[in-house]
Amino acid sequence: MKSPFNKILPSLRLVEMPPYAFGQLDELKLELIKNGKELIDLSLGSPDRGTEPTVLEAMYKGMQKSRNQQYPIFSGLPEFKEEIANWFESRFNTRLDPKTQILPLLGSKEGIAHIAFAYMQEGHLAIIPSPYYPVHMRGTVLAGGHVYELKLKAENNYVADLDEIPEEILLRARMMIISYPNNPTGSVVDKSYLEKAVNICKEYNILLVNDLAYSEIWFDQNKPASIFEVRGGMDVGVEFHTFSKTYNMAGMRLGFAVGNPEIIHTLYKLKTNIDYGVCMGIQEAGTAALRLGDSYREEIRLEYQRRRDYVHQVLTDMKLKVTKPGGAMYHWIPIPKSYIDERKNSFDFARDLLEATGVALVPGLTFGKFGEDYVRLALVQPLDKIKIAMEKFQKFTQSKLVV
Ligand SMILES: Cc1ncc(COP(=O)(O)O)c(C=O)c1O
Repeated sequence: MKSPFNKILPSLRLVEMPPYAFGQLDELKLELIKNGKELIDLSLGSPDRGTEPTVLEAMYKGMQKSRNQQYPIFSGLPEFKEEIANWFESRFNTRLDPKTQILPLLGSKEGIAHIAFAYMQEGHLAIIPSPYYPVHMRGTVLAGGHVYELKLKAENNYVADLDEIPEEILLRARMMIISYPNNPTGSVVDKSYLEKAVNICKEYNILLVNDLAYSEIWFDQNKPASIFEVRGGMDVGVEFHTFSKTYNMAGMRLGFAVGNPEIIHTLYKLKTNIDYGVCMGIQEAGTAALRLGDSYREEIRLEYQRRRDYVHQVLTDMKLKVTKPGGAMYHWIPIPKSYIDERKNSFDFARDLLEATGVALVPGLTFGKFGEDYVRLALVQPLDKIKIAMEKFQKFTQSKLVV
């Protein structure tokens, strides 16, 4: 043996990273299905309504074009980027240059992970809201950086208090992520919050990453703004959007980054080293999706709002300490006190609930240490199924409740 290494080993960063936890209950799910139990899966945020037929047709037609069967254009299809620019202008009152300020992605998760690789160096610090969508933490850590977790507290309606960030952290931070409507808590912010985030990032030269996956899934009066509607946003910011949620295209893997031309170019430069950009047939599908128009987006939004209203009513009737989600597609639910007293965590509760009722939720620990005493419910089944799930959840939980 000539090698100084005695084994083929993965990188330490990967070894030390806990497994991606969404799959933790998969084995149990399979076993229950095998035993004939009916599952109601409210775990992954994977929308239940299929992709629109016109969007699928645009993809089939797109793939028949020979140019689309070759490697894609790295920087994205000009027609698709033009359509994004048009939508963005009508939605956020901001005109983007399709050539320099828009970059199609293989889903926004990919872009969020890669922005960390593009900007973080060994030992760099990123400020992230916590509980977090996992890639906010994982991208940074896999890129060699560290995270400062800014706790989303119930008493602040699960909005991170930017005034709580210590000065010494701001001085060290190279990147700050914000993401409202929030996954997993459903919390929302207004424009003045974005202004504050932009001002802090300008003052401390921090890259501001706005993960706006749920820009079109908002309730009541909580219509989200873009950081580019705020003065100075374009100086420090990049924003991530997805087709997975509103357009029910999670399987196609399509998203885009918009923002400061230098930042977009840096992300593009990194990605040219790693992938070949997005399949052009899928970009044509994305163009068709954007053309579905406001009435389609409104229909989707109102369907989630109906589901949210129902679930929130059940949870408040149960006297659980929950906050009404202002957007996104999730409820953040505290586990019964009896579990905490017995030193059991969100994983124990989610497993017991699944075993007893067939209702699948996500243990809050999936979203980091501040999720230990919570589970997340995703509104990804039709209302009739959600009603059955909530009946089962209520019965099971009340048998465990010591409020
Ligand atoms: C906050 C947030 N950002 C990004 C994503 C990733 O979406 P996609 O990679 O499908 O575009 C998700 C998916 O659940 C999410 O919740």
